[in-house]
This record gives sequence, C-alpha cells and structure tokens, in this order.
Amino acid sequence: MKILVIGGGGREHAVCAAFKNSPKVTELHCAPGNGGISEIAACHPEIKATDIDGAVGLAHEINADYVFVAPDDPLTLGMVDRLEAAGFPAFGPRANAAVIEGSKVFSKAFMKRHNIPTALYETFSETGAALAYIKSRNSYPIVIKCDGLALGKGVIIAQNFPEAEEAVISILEGGKFGASGKEIVVEEFLEGVEATVLAFTDGKTISAMPASIDHKRALDNNEGLNTGGMGVICPAPYYTEEIAEICMKTIFEPTIRGLAEEGKTFKGCLYFGLMVGSTGFSPCVKVIEYNCRFGDPETQAVLPLLETDLFEIMTAVIDERLAEIPIKWSGKSSACVVMASGGYPEKYETGFEISGLGDISEAVVYHAGTKLSSGKYVTAGGRVLGITALGENLGEALGKAYRETAKISFNGAFYRKDIGAAHCKKAKT
Ligand code: AMP
Ligand code: GLY
Repeated sequence: MKILVIGGGGREHAVCAAFKNSPKVTELHCAPGNGGISEIAACHPEIKATDIDGAVGLAHEINADYVFVAPDDPLTLGMVDRLEAAGFPAFGPRANAAVIEGSKVFSKAFMKRHNIPTALYETFSETGAALAYIKSRNSYPIVIKCDGLALGKGVIIAQNFPEAEEAVISILEGGKFGASGKEIVVEEFLEGVEATVLAFTDGKTISAMPASIDHKRALDNNEGLNTGGMGVICPAPYYTEEIAEICMKTIFEPTIRGLAEEGKTFKGCLYFGLMVGSTGFSPCVKVIEYNCRFGDPETQAVLPLLETDLFEIMTAVIDERLAEIPIKWSGKSSACVVMASGGYPEKYETGFEISGLGDISEAVVYHAGTKLSSGKYVTAGGRVLGITALGENLGEALGKAYRETAKISFNGAFYRKDIGAAHCKKAKT
C-alpha cells in the first residue's frame, strides 16, 4: 500500500515511523515532510501542508492508496473532502466536523447543546457587551479566547479587569488575531490538572488512547510564553480508571454521538484537552478544548506505545469498522523532551548544524523543524527535535530521555529540564 502523510513536524515523523513498521505499507510519502522524515519516507517539500490542490495532485502522481492528513489547517480547509471527491480514501475529519477545532464559538455551543461538561461561558463580537459581562462576573483569573485558529496563541488568561479589558480590545478592535478574533469566548477559569486524551473514532465507535500530559509553557516551572508544547509524559499518572470511565460516559461518547446527530460525523483522531479537578470526594472532568487531529508533541509520546498496526486502525476508521479492531497498548511509560531554537516561541534563527544525533542509543529522535543541508541536519524551525524514550515506569522513561537529550546540541538550543517532574512522584514506580 502507498501512503501519503500530510504535514511536516514531529507528529508527522512519529506517524510515518508507525506506518514504516506496518508490513502492509510498501511505499511512504510525506508532504512537505522534513529532514528526519526523509530518512523513512519520500518527502515533497514543495507541497505545503495547506496546499489542497498540491496534495490532490501528488496523490494522483504517486497513485496513493490512502492519505493521512495530520495538521489542523488543511482539515478545517476541507482537504479530506477534496481528497475523497478525487477518489482517495483519507484519514481525518471532513471540514464540517473539523469545525469542532476551527471554531470555539461552535464547540462551546455544541457542548452546551449536548450537556458535555465545560467551563461556563458567553460569546461576544462587541467590546461593550464583553466588558460588561466580565465586570458582572468579577471572577479572576478569567479566560478570553478567539473563535478561530490562532497558532495556539488565541487564549489569554487575564488576572484582573485591566488585563481582560486590554485583551478584549486588542482582539475585537485591534484585530490582533485577524478574522480568527471576530468573535470571542469569555469563560470561567478552571482549576485542576490538565490531560490530553487522543481517541480514534469512526463516528460510531470511539477508542481512547492512553492519557498524556503536555507542557505548554516555554520555561521550567511553567514560566515563559505559551508554546505548541515543550514535552510530554504518557500515561498521565492521575488519570485513573474511574476518571477514564467518567470521561467515556460524560464526554467522549456524547461528543461523537452529538456530532453524528448534527450531521457532522467525525472520523479520524479527536483530541480532548481536559481539566481534571474534583468536587468533594468525586473527580470532576471538564473539556478545555477539542482539536480535530493528533496533538503535537503528544503523538510523539503516545504512538510509540501503540502495539496494533496503525495502518489497520486507519483503514478501520475510514471503513467505519473500528469496533472490530482490538487496539493494544504496550503498558509502558514514555517521555518526550522537545529541543527548541533559542528565542522560540518568538523570533529565532535557523540553519544551525545539529550534532550528537549519531550517539543516541536509548531513545528515538523525532524531527520537528530540521532539514538536510549538504548531508547534515540543520535547524529549520522553532521546535527542532522531540526526544522520546520508553521505560517500565515514568522515572525510567524520563531518565533515558534526558540522558539522550544531553548528547544533542546546536547553537542556541534549549529544552525544559522539568518535564514530568511535578507528576513523577505520583507515578507508580
Ligand atoms: P486552548 O487553546 O483552549 O487549549 O487553551 C490553551 C491553554 O490555556 C490550555 O492548555 C490551558 O492551560 C489554558 N486554558 C484554556 N482555557 C482554560 C480555562 N477555562 N481554565 C483554565 N485554563 C485554561
Ligand atoms: N500540544 C497541543 C496541541 O497539539 O494542540
């Protein structure tokens, strides 16, 4: 089978690595791909991830059997719809279902309609009304979110009224996030610990993967700016069987059922960003956000634990027979440490040679922003590498991941030294 993967980051490297392990996959392509992915797949750097015509053209050119669309932008733009119309079976939601990530105004109203637990909120397109609501609530921190996609930057947690006022004005009047900020959601701040649950779904059956924990801030102790994610541990130590059951009953199943009922059947990988808190003796889980795709870097920690062939799961999702496929996980723990370019998530330079990759023995290195230049790997993005190690427990996985990360260097490189540290004590050892 010939597979084309759309995207070019660490997530796509982990996806390509999983396909590479499948005996059914004889030819693997990736567009645009990156330096590391080119070791295991034919890369097509001229085709950007959002280039729908380009992806359809490439699928024809290589005569692809299946296309796997990984990033949010092409999904919300309707790449899967276009591929299907051209006769190519594709993994990922159609545009009408991808709206669950593409519009927070939609996803919040959807949760309200289906009684899915989430933060209390109101939506606004007008400054005066938004500020009046914030004043009337008088509860800080308060959370202000852009409706549309904003490269992970469209969420502002305001600590007081002046900060909230500045955020609302900059988005609704200053055009800080362009069309994505034409409408905003203002919602209550949730207390608790965050977890990501990725789930395969064919629109009828949903199969949750092990829960993971991303670390979104750039610096140790959750300081610095929000990033795409600086490291992940999996499984999330506090995500108990009891919590998993609550999530399945009150969140996961109602979500796919609700989407199907509304004519937006979701097929692909659904991302649940969850806040796990408690009320008295009982766990209380609420949805922070939905994404219509695999998370990055979560995928780099989760997929290495998958024992079932990803190709079999992908085809079962596309053919709507996921219920027939037993999905097995190794039961091990994993840790992924992200190495980033100095300055990320703001301005950074690229083109620096990466050294030490040949010395790695206890981890896999997923390339996020690299390219090959005269036979050498050089940096080509903000997040450069994800170093993932497995272990019998979280401590072992983290130990290996950090020992291996220390062997790699490039000009300006930095990484968080505390991935999983706050959770490691709670983990089974
Ligand atoms: P989102 O893009 O919606 O995932 O938001 C980015 C990050 O902001 C989340 O990972 C949380 O850390 C934080 N966040 C978003 N909404 C809330 C909320 N209602 N309460 C507390 N933290 C939040
Ligand atoms: N790691 C967060 C995301 O993929 O959205």
